[in-house]
Amino acid sequence: MDAKGGIELTLLQGGPLEARVDLLAFTTFGDPGKDSIFKSVDSALGGVLGDIARSESFDGKAGQTMTVHTHGRIAAKRVLVVGAGVRSEFSNHHIRDVAATISQAANKAGATSVAFLLPALGANREALVVQLASEGVHLGTYKFGRYLTGDDHKRPMTLKSIGLILDPKGKKPTAAQGRALAAAIHRGTQVAFAVNHARDLINEPAAAITPVALAADAQAIAKKHKGSLTVTVLDAKKCEELGMGMFLAVGKGSEQEPRFIHLTYKPAKKPKKRICFIGKGITFDSGGYSLKPSQAMEDMKVDMSGAAAVISAMDAIATLGSEHEVHAVAACCENLVSGRAYKLGDVLVSMDGTTVEINNTDAEGRLTLGDAITYVRTKIQPDEMFDFATLTGACMVALGPYTAGVMSDHEALVKGWLAVAERTGEDMWRLPLNPRLREQLKSPIADMRNTGDRFGGAIVAGLFLKTFAKDTPWVHVDIAGPASLGTTRPSQPKGGTGFAVSTIVEYATRS
Ligand code: BES
Ligand code: MN
Ligand code: ZN
Repeated sequence: MDAKGGIELTLLQGGPLEARVDLLAFTTFGDPGKDSIFKSVDSALGGVLGDIARSESFDGKAGQTMTVHTHGRIAAKRVLVVGAGVRSEFSNHHIRDVAATISQAANKAGATSVAFLLPALGANREALVVQLASEGVHLGTYKFGRYLTGDDHKRPMTLKSIGLILDPKGKKPTAAQGRALAAAIHRGTQVAFAVNHARDLINEPAAAITPVALAADAQAIAKKHKGSLTVTVLDAKKCEELGMGMFLAVGKGSEQEPRFIHLTYKPAKKPKKRICFIGKGITFDSGGYSLKPSQAMEDMKVDMSGAAAVISAMDAIATLGSEHEVHAVAACCENLVSGRAYKLGDVLVSMDGTTVEINNTDAEGRLTLGDAITYVRTKIQPDEMFDFATLTGACMVALGPYTAGVMSDHEALVKGWLAVAERTGEDMWRLPLNPRLREQLKSPIADMRNTGDRFGGAIVAGLFLKTFAKDTPWVHVDIAGPASLGTTRPSQPKGGTGFAVSTIVEYATRS
């Protein structure tokens, strides 16, 4: 079906024992001796599967794997068993990891064809399981290898095709089921391509992904979808005319010119809603004159992860189609130090006229986002807007590195958003926008200052943004933790994760 990245995903007809492939993969939840698939494959193989499970102490824990040669006893050349842990703890994001584990094992074993008997998780979840498995296959083979010159990094991927098997008995799906499941493969593949594209943008050094480069990327995506996707890129002069005093101040210290990117998707029919996704696009955050120490600055090329997410998601949204008019907006610039950089004590005038005293040049994201939100609220006038930003270290202190902080005063909107995140398996948790914390933003000489004091930093940043969102239904998602990770899981190598892309696509194309 979708064959970018070299791997073709299909639905396989027939049962697992008939699959003529290099590798037959399936999962067991805990003790394999109690698993009916394991038992049936084991008996077809004359008991070797059970023998090896015992000798390798394979007990179906999450992430455990075992491989055996079949020596022609069944159609597949080898069998791969993947532990899936406790069934009740197995949730949507685990399916991605299992599929990723399988695609990695296949490449390691030099297999070109795989059959994957999907875990049975209930009849109404089949399409979602197929989608998430398809995502996992492509996410698991992602590697940012552009700058690696050694030979071992150039080993070609052998895996060419993965056939998904839904029914252990090989029962044929109905025509309607078949269509729904093929659509789920397509959807999963498109989502994974968008996630992997966001990962590339995040992992590229700041010297390569400048604001101008991000704009070029958005333009290339728009060109792929002529007819439904258009792009507008505003330069500094245009932003000046619009009065974006906060956004422009942050970018002033850099030789790299700022770019304000606006992508628009229009459905063929009259749109149901107008939805806007806004991404923080600081291509490098040195902290400015409130300079970060070296260690804190080391990974600050990732400060455009929000922009990467909203731009990349538009590619999948345009491919999959939406009943809504969907916008992606990113105010992109670099936060550096120079003779032209903005300074502590400066008073900035934002696009909506609010004046802001700068007491920390490292709280730059809220300044760029504040003007982006005003642009969206006044020029696009959406029914709903969402922003995604690597905004505060405080959010990571509160929730740890894997969970995004979600803030909103719009109950229905935030609940709808979190329900979609639950389905896509992206870890998000709501924080309260406690209005009492606003007092931290008081300034004696301007309408507000840009930074509060020590406690509640993620929320204070959210309250700062809320000033500009005003009455437009709005959700703020602080992705400082999960945007880039130093730990791995099968579907996610170290570095940029592409966090939020799958929830954005799901929200825009299905709710
Ligand atoms: N880009 C950073 C936040 C960040 C930290 C993202 C770690 C990813 C990983 C943001 O611009 C920043 O510097 N925030 C300051 C805010 C403070 C000055 C109020 C922070 O978190 O220290
Ligand atoms: Mn900063
Ligand atoms: Zn930043």
